[in-house]
Amino acid sequence: MPTPKDIDTLDEAAARAELADLARRLAEANVAYHGDDAPEISDADYDRLKARNAAIEARFPHLKRSDSPTEMVGAAPAEGFSKVTHAVPMLSLSNAFAAEEIEEFDRRIRRYLNLADDASLAYTAEPKIDGLSLSLRYEKGVLVQAATRGDGTTGENVTANARTIADIPERLDGAPELLEVRGEVYMSHPDFAALNERQSARGGKTFANPRNAAAGSLRQLDAEITRDRPLRFFAYAWGALSDPLAETQKGAIDRLEALGFATNPLTALSDGPAEMLRHYAAIEEQRATLGYDIDGVVYKVDDLALQRRLGFRSTTPRWALAHKFPAELAWTRLEAIDIQVGRTGALSPVARLTPVTVGGVVVSNATLHNEDYIAGRDSKGQQIRDGKDIRVGDWVQVYRAGDVIPKVADVDLSKRPDDAQPYAFPTECPECGSDAVREEGDAVRRCTGGLICPAQAVEKLKHFVSRAAFDIEGLGAKQVEQFHADGWIAEPADIFSLRDRFGSGIQQLKNREGWGEKSAANLFDAIDDKRQIPLARLIFALGIRHVGESASNLLALHYGTWEALETAVSEAAEQSGPAWEDLIGIDGVGAVMAGSLVSTLNQDAERASIARLLEHLEVEPAQRADTDGSPVAGKTVVFTGTLERMTRAEAKAMAERLGAKVSGSVSARTDYLVAGPGAGSKAKKAAELGIETLDEEAWLTLIGNA
Ligand code: IVH
Repeated sequence: MPTPKDIDTLDEAAARAELADLARRLAEANVAYHGDDAPEISDADYDRLKARNAAIEARFPHLKRSDSPTEMVGAAPAEGFSKVTHAVPMLSLSNAFAAEEIEEFDRRIRRYLNLADDASLAYTAEPKIDGLSLSLRYEKGVLVQAATRGDGTTGENVTANARTIADIPERLDGAPELLEVRGEVYMSHPDFAALNERQSARGGKTFANPRNAAAGSLRQLDAEITRDRPLRFFAYAWGALSDPLAETQKGAIDRLEALGFATNPLTALSDGPAEMLRHYAAIEEQRATLGYDIDGVVYKVDDLALQRRLGFRSTTPRWALAHKFPAELAWTRLEAIDIQVGRTGALSPVARLTPVTVGGVVVSNATLHNEDYIAGRDSKGQQIRDGKDIRVGDWVQVYRAGDVIPKVADVDLSKRPDDAQPYAFPTECPECGSDAVREEGDAVRRCTGGLICPAQAVEKLKHFVSRAAFDIEGLGAKQVEQFHADGWIAEPADIFSLRDRFGSGIQQLKNREGWGEKSAANLFDAIDDKRQIPLARLIFALGIRHVGESASNLLALHYGTWEALETAVSEAAEQSGPAWEDLIGIDGVGAVMAGSLVSTLNQDAERASIARLLEHLEVEPAQRADTDGSPVAGKTVVFTGTLERMTRAEAKAMAERLGAKVSGSVSARTDYLVAGPGAGSKAKKAAELGIETLDEEAWLTLIGNA
């Protein structure tokens, strides 16, 4: 390739020809890269072509082409999509499978709202589309942004791609100033089949199911590829709004339809569980002939004022429920049982199966849960599967429901080979040889190797970089395994010292298979990006047993800073005293979770490892959203006695929305006790401690809601 210097010697005709050539080569490289085919040129060559193109354009600005590579959407492949923070988080739905759970859903809502059993309460019922959700932002009726759900808080900016979907209007007539429309992008069965045919005809990647095809097609850096893919969109919800769409869910959906969106024709109103279940049955009956995948029915409280009162749990609305279709089944041969060691040392048996299609997806691995499950009993020693054990060589039934990991559900004894032997569960860790012990009351056998067990270390690292934790782009499970095997990273802190330890480390990394100069540089940048991390993510990333994403959020909001959490945890080391009481007083934190948190964080090795990690990080304190000016932000409130204007659950949710912490017990840290009639020991304790006690009216006045 000529050096940039000889650009000075180019004449206009040569420059024009070369720009045309570069535009074509870079466009082809983009298609090859993003179209999931094998990239045809290296990252470095790609960058050189781009630099050459830019240099020629700089010398001959009037020759810049309308399809100039410098202006291309997603021009630099490795940059990926820009991030979008959702104005209103995109939540998921709680799931149910059984009819009783629908009745329980209705009862729960009535209890929360204090509605009598015979008070009318309407719900919508509509198909749950099996695609991926998308949020479309319209300002003054013009589509300005489209974003995927991502982790619910931050998604990917796929605006250019969304504009290629025919069901998504560019402009709306008579819409609110600001309107975020949410719904599902999906692919129909015939379009999916045709796409796979086209893909395999040209040696490209085929997709396992329509949902994967839809996701793969929407998340193309080159929107021209998306344009070629037959995507569709159903609108079923909304995010930020300047004016309400309607007073009911059904009214809002009708309004979206009037604005030009496709809405699902099977959306119907029902007056309670019996009718909801009838709609469910009707939708299930049509499932096979709809022409697109659905995986259940979604019920939503119809009255939007009630939806507002019901509000949200940490990741799901209280006013909606997904009623999933039953799982799908298939029979196949169990070829082997492998043991995987998890990040907390749990030994998990995995069934290796002769591949079989279950509900359209090829399954070759399934979970066997634990040693009791294989032996044919539950954790209490009761028989399951009529006591039939599972052996290598058996003919087994595999079960798969939605996204969950497939499991081995049953075994056909009539097909058992004569020489099949009962499975002997290992009592030593297959990875490090340490004893694997099962504690009283625990269904799981665990490796006692702790940090010396390489499997535990790797799983911890994988969890650390996972999406809800540090979410480091370019550092996924595969790379973690590679780096760990090479001895480059043994614990989380090592990730952040990689760049320094490597010195000119990009050189080392770029010589590894799968790495180029650009991807190596990108990785170090992606790691640097995460040196500043929100407290909740840090807590979750530590991978403490029982401390999941929503518990991490609760802990972060309660303690605010890492230092405060650490102090509290060491004060609570004995699992007694005020710090311990305060910890288990956090609504949503039970004694088991608190015990695990306290014992893990008080281990010397763990503390030292976290201290090494913190040297590289700036931890962002946790803040509650939108509580500016709230008179109770940061205050700790306890509710006791009977409330008359709202239920206890509702009062608690309202206080939390205003930034207060709601605790179940009175302590020296309590700021307000809100006591209704019938308050007992808590009122007495508050009086002893000199804590301000308010009645319900005074509380509502304080929060400006009288
Ligand atoms: S409502 C606040 N309605 O299911 C709740 N979701 O499992 C907003 N989904 O992330 C969601 N069909 O991607 C709703 N008719 C429907 C749906 C639906 C599919 C998806 C959506 C959501 C996921 C939750």
